[in-house]
Amino acid sequence: MTFTVAIDGPAAAGKGTIARAVAAHFGMAHLDTGLLYRAVGAKVLAGAAPEAAARALTPDDLKGEALRTQAVAEAASKVAAIPEVRAALVAFQRTFAARSDGAVLDGRDIGTVICPAAQVKLYVTASPECRAQRRLDELAAKGIAGTFETILAEVRARDARDSERATAPLKPAADAVMLDTSDLSIEEAVARAVAEVAARRG
Ligand code: CDP
Repeated sequence: MTFTVAIDGPAAAGKGTIARAVAAHFGMAHLDTGLLYRAVGAKVLAGAAPEAAARALTPDDLKGEALRTQAVAEAASKVAAIPEVRAALVAFQRTFAARSDGAVLDGRDIGTVICPAAQVKLYVTASPECRAQRRLDELAAKGIAGTFETILAEVRARDARDSERATAPLKPAADAVMLDTSDLSIEEAVARAVAEVAARRG
């Protein structure tokens, strides 16, 4: 029996941290699907055509700190609006979700498009201001400078692009559990997510 946990939500809401912690807690595999779009975005920045880059993606392309830059995030959210790019990445994600030891996938459309039958669907969100502050702190920890205003504008622009695109827009699945992390610590947010999974896993 497969067991899939789908975790969706906007940039910097905490879904990656929650997904990693849930996967570690239950001994499941974890896929950060944003990395797929980031890897395609990085190839496009290097001159590749988006659809061809998506079709040719290999697991090695998902590694490396270079995928974490704002420029790559921006390019990722642009290629993510191209239906052919999304279609080329579906099979890899569904195969991952079908692993017999269970899987946690985090992204934008896991509960709505990739794994609509997932046993657990969480929609992790937080106010744009909170998310911008967290991204600023993350960057500062890496020694990268930024201003709150610039990052807030980037968060809002990416939210708008991700929510308004025609194909697989960012939105909660009808049966998703909402988890607003604005006023929660990481530990509290993880504890709530773990409790949701435990309740359904039996
Ligand atoms: O970590 P952060 O939330 O900033 O970004 P990410 O999850 O790595 O995703 C980067 C971009 O990929 C997003 O802005 C989306 O446009 C796109 N994406 C998507 O369309 N569908 C997914 N399942 C995951 C990411």
